[in-house]
Amino acid sequence: MAGHVVVTGGASGIGAAVVDQLRERGHAVTVWDLSEPDRDDVGHRRLDVTDADAVATALTAAERERGVVRHLVTSHGIRGAYVPALELDPAGVRRLLDVHVVGTLLTASAVVRRLVELDAASGASVVTLASTTAYGGWANQSDYGVAKAAVRQLTENLAIEWAGLGVRVNAVAPGHTRTPMVQDLIDHGYDVAPVEARTPLGRLCTPAEMAREIVHLLLDATFTTGVCVPVDGGWTAVGK
Ligand SMILES: NC(=O)c1ccc[n+]([C@@H]2O[C@H](COP(=O)([O-])OP(=O)(O)OC[C@H]3O[C@@H](n4cnc5c(N)ncnc54)[C@H](O)[C@@H]3O)[C@@H](O)[C@H]2O)c1
Repeated sequence: MAGHVVVTGGASGIGAAVVDQLRERGHAVTVWDLSEPDRDDVGHRRLDVTDADAVATALTAAERERGVVRHLVTSHGIRGAYVPALELDPAGVRRLLDVHVVGTLLTASAVVRRLVELDAASGASVVTLASTTAYGGWANQSDYGVAKAAVRQLTENLAIEWAGLGVRVNAVAPGHTRTPMVQDLIDHGYDVAPVEARTPLGRLCTPAEMAREIVHLLLDATFTTGVCVPVDGGWTAVGK
């Protein structure tokens, strides 16, 4: 029987595409998101991933409803302000770090802690969402890019700590992917034409393409842990 997977941020964009592919493969899925998923074949809990008590309660409910959670994809997220560092609002930066970094740490730790309690950690896996902005220096990314670099580092650290338990932890670093998050940027005047022009494959990624890489790392890989895979049409390969 395919194992139970929690997908944070599974109500939208990349997370929703991951849910599609997991359901196609016969997995039980629970979505943890601030919003409702647009489907009724998954478990769901509306929560903020930065709220440890809410995460603990949701994990207990998910296990009762669909069995022990064996895998986790942390696809929740909010976009950065896209302004120079001198214009950043400290409250916005704190919230961004909280959602991306603390939210990833809290949810991953809750799932793995419970698996350890059950002596069932071996074979479990986690995939986190970093970003191409986690590599090198970028203008206008002193909030989001820093948060994503921290997620990338966190992924490496957790992979090392949890390898002895038999738990793999990997990240993907998406390039621009056509989701509501990127559409919101476009609606606020962000021009993706230069991004497409700089990308060797010449276009943005689709959520389904990103989800395929995530599901591969989550379920099909066996000896891959502690890596962050750029899924970016060659953006990172070009360098600066
Ligand atoms: N789309 C891209 O180009 C791109 C590029 C690099 C990285 N990413 C990352 O991929 C992940 C998914 O992004 P997306 O483009 O699918 O975005 P999206 O906005 O389509 O989906 C994000 C989901 O996360 C949920 N969410 C936000 N804050 C939350 C919180 N505190 N608690 C629970 N749920 C919360 C939202 O409700 C939403 O359903 C994010 O971590 C994002 O930073 C996206």
